[in-house]
Amino acid sequence: MFLRNCWYVAGWSYDIAVDSVLSRTMLGEPVVLYRKADGGVVALEDRCCHRLAPLSRGRIEGDDLRCMYHGLKFAPSGKCVEVPGQDLIPPTAMVRSYPVVEQDCWVWLWMGDPALADPALIPAALGHGDADWFMQTGQLAYEANYELINDNLLDLTHLSYVHEKTLGRNSMSWGESRPKITPIERGLRIARWVVDNPAPGYLDLAPGTRTDMWASYDYMVAGVFLLATQSFPPGTAAACGMQAPSAEPLWRSMTSQAVTPITEHQTIYYYSGCLPKSYVTEENSRQQLVVFEKAFAEDNAMIEAQQRVIDGTAQPAMLGTSSDNALNQFRRLMAGLIEAERPHRLSAAE
Ligand code: FES
Ligand SMILES: [Fe+2]
Repeated sequence: MFLRNCWYVAGWSYDIAVDSVLSRTMLGEPVVLYRKADGGVVALEDRCCHRLAPLSRGRIEGDDLRCMYHGLKFAPSGKCVEVPGQDLIPPTAMVRSYPVVEQDCWVWLWMGDPALADPALIPAALGHGDADWFMQTGQLAYEANYELINDNLLDLTHLSYVHEKTLGRNSMSWGESRPKITPIERGLRIARWVVDNPAPGYLDLAPGTRTDMWASYDYMVAGVFLLATQSFPPGTAAACGMQAPSAEPLWRSMTSQAVTPITEHQTIYYYSGCLPKSYVTEENSRQQLVVFEKAFAEDNAMIEAQQRVIDGTAQPAMLGTSSDNALNQFRRLMAGLIEAERPHRLSAAE
């Protein structure tokens, strides 16, 4: 089950090069992406309406895309504008066209009713393309349902276990933290102090440096994770009464991550790491990405293994714990939105 009336990341802007045609599967639908002459991105159904050949094997001609099987040509609207060998273009000769917005270095597609595609609903990624921040990026494919990845990002106690030696830094600080969860429009805000947390190795700090870190993220439908952290001297969390800090931190970091279903069984995950140029070197930023890549491979291994166990279990039942609070709230939010967009069922009387 997918939420269709939603913006999904289809790729990084750099994934769609000029004069190249990119094929993606999103929410089980084949999509082809390319750039028009003015650089704007077009997203069409990757399935020619003639004999169902993939348009991703086609040729860009100006703003249009020509199917390279028998030559039908399609405009960015999805309408067929040329049928070789005949003058009449049937009105049904068209493929689906998806609303596209390129924002914050990501290409976003609206997978539902185009009339409802409001760009204001696109979550704002943190620091992407900001000249004051170094940004590193990556992507990772999963053989797992997207909800398991959402669950993972909504319960960061796993940092102390799955990422024991990477993001967890051999500390129980994350595992023992207690987040405050607040519902927001189309998402949840999850904030906490991670107390007495070892500083990351990629920052060239004195060995053994520890901080109190305020970590707050918004988790937006259908799977967008927007985390900002602020690190302070140890003792700051207690001095703030465990409330949000107002002082200037020692340093900040930001990461944005987007979960896009490919099918019910496959998912792609796009992520960034941003660090302030005022505090770190580009090499620090590159080293952060090395840690991220290692850590996200750890998530990938655990979640794919979890998916295999679930698939092999006749009636999978899960035990609730307090750390499931956010993921349960988010699953309920998603289930409500998915239910709301289902066509109304006719009652027996009708
Ligand atoms: S399948 Fe595309 S033109 Fe025939
Ligand atoms: Fe993780």
